[in-house]
Amino acid sequence: MKVRSMKARDLPRVGELAAEMVALHHGWDARRFFVPDSPAEGYRWWFSKELERKAAVLLVAEVGDAVAGYLYGTCEERDWNALRDPGGAIHDVLVDRAFRRRGVGEALVAAAVAHFAKRGLTQIVLSTATKNKAAQKFFAKLGFRSTMIEMTRDLDD
Ligand SMILES: CC(C)(COP(=O)(O)OP(=O)(O)OC[C@H]1O[C@@H](n2cnc3c(N)ncnc32)[C@H](O)[C@@H]1OP(=O)(O)O)[C@@H](O)C(=O)NCCC(=O)NCCS
Repeated sequence: MKVRSMKARDLPRVGELAAEMVALHHGWDARRFFVPDSPAEGYRWWFSKELERKAAVLLVAEVGDAVAGYLYGTCEERDWNALRDPGGAIHDVLVDRAFRRRGVGEALVAAAVAHFAKRGLTQIVLSTATKNKAAQKFFAKLGFRSTMIEMTRDLDD
């Protein structure tokens, strides 16, 4: 298995994986997590823009010829709203079901951590859906501690 930078040629496959991420979140809480009209296409477009941006980190894990997973993160400035110093943010990590529990996710996060550290950042933050217990265990195993709980109230009840 190899982790490398995402390329434009990966975007169709990564778009499909990102669409799975959208469906998972919508399934956990349909009112909080919207589904765009064409998730795979939408993410293809979004990541093609992010590939141009220095602050973005876009990685894929390859197993043989297959893209088994991807990670998307960004380098963030100091944020007064969040009381957060400059740091890395991990937005998405997704591993194709066929390749899970083989260390692919861990390798993607390790590569992102190395990327952020190389940029001089000393902290990484991320959020997981409350119902995503598997991801919480995964990130805890990789050294992340729980720091914030997002709460949502819908006003159209
Ligand atoms: C979370 C996810 C990225 C993990 O990827 P993975 O390649 O299967 O993870 P790894 O094999 O690197 O796991 C490393 C360790 O994390 C923990 N872990 C991983 N998946 C776990 C699970 N489902 N339940 C409990 N612990 C888990 C284990 O300690 C594991 O080590 P082990 O297999 O030796 O016990 C993957 O399950 C996934 O894509 N989930 C859907 C998307 C998602 O929820 N992403 C995170 C939110 S952005």
